[in-house]
Amino acid sequence: MTITKELEWIGMQKASEAVAYALKEMTKYAQPGMTTKELDNYGAKILSDFGANSAPYLTYGFPGYTCISINNEFCHGIPSDTRTLKEGDLVNIDVSAELNGFWADNGGSFVLGEDINQHQKLVDASKFILMKAIANIKGGVRISDIGQLIENEAKKRGFKVIRNLGGHGIGRSLHEQPDDLLNYKDRFDQRRFQKNSVVAIETFISTTSTYADTLNDGWTMIGNKGGYMAQHEHTIVVTAGSPIILTEMNGI
Ligand code: CO
Ligand code: CO
Repeated sequence: MTITKELEWIGMQKASEAVAYALKEMTKYAQPGMTTKELDNYGAKILSDFGANSAPYLTYGFPGYTCISINNEFCHGIPSDTRTLKEGDLVNIDVSAELNGFWADNGGSFVLGEDINQHQKLVDASKFILMKAIANIKGGVRISDIGQLIENEAKKRGFKVIRNLGGHGIGRSLHEQPDDLLNYKDRFDQRRFQKNSVVAIETFISTTSTYADTLNDGWTMIGNKGGYMAQHEHTIVVTAGSPIILTEMNGI
């Protein structure tokens, strides 16, 4: 969406606050021994306290309130009461929700407890790249140039990017135009970021895979060549200068 009215600012701020707070609190709450369903229920309670509705549940009938993906799972992992978190797991939580007709989205990967499986370097790279990409976005900047920046920064650190996942416009629904804000340069993409538009920017930085495939459960995505992936995501408003990060409270 493009923000033109005060009411839209306030609506987007409130929806963003709900998802950012839920993500931050869920990240703190996650402990070895906890099931991903327990963690999801905790997030669902926070969203409902804000009066917010889970976006994947509402939009796609996702079997959970938040997406929780562990280790080889890249994204859209289904919360489960048989899946228990372990020390050193690479965990991704993605929280998106609707509040009073406004939609916001954010996500983050982290290492649970001690980094016994050496995932921290990947997590740090993804987080750094997201913030660098956002710092370079303003009205008039080519969408494909930000894709190139993300891919270059990943390569510099010995990582790859997932080519079939991307960020997206957001605001009045979960996914809006401009869609397919890719993590690499699509040289045919002539689009530019527009001032006052709301977009969800997300990284998909991986160790070995370049595509994500959907498992037979119809949701969970894993790498075409295995390995691990880290994702970090903020909902932002594009301006003539530095973007306004609506989900800043998530602490990424
Ligand atoms: Co998103
Ligand atoms: Co998301």
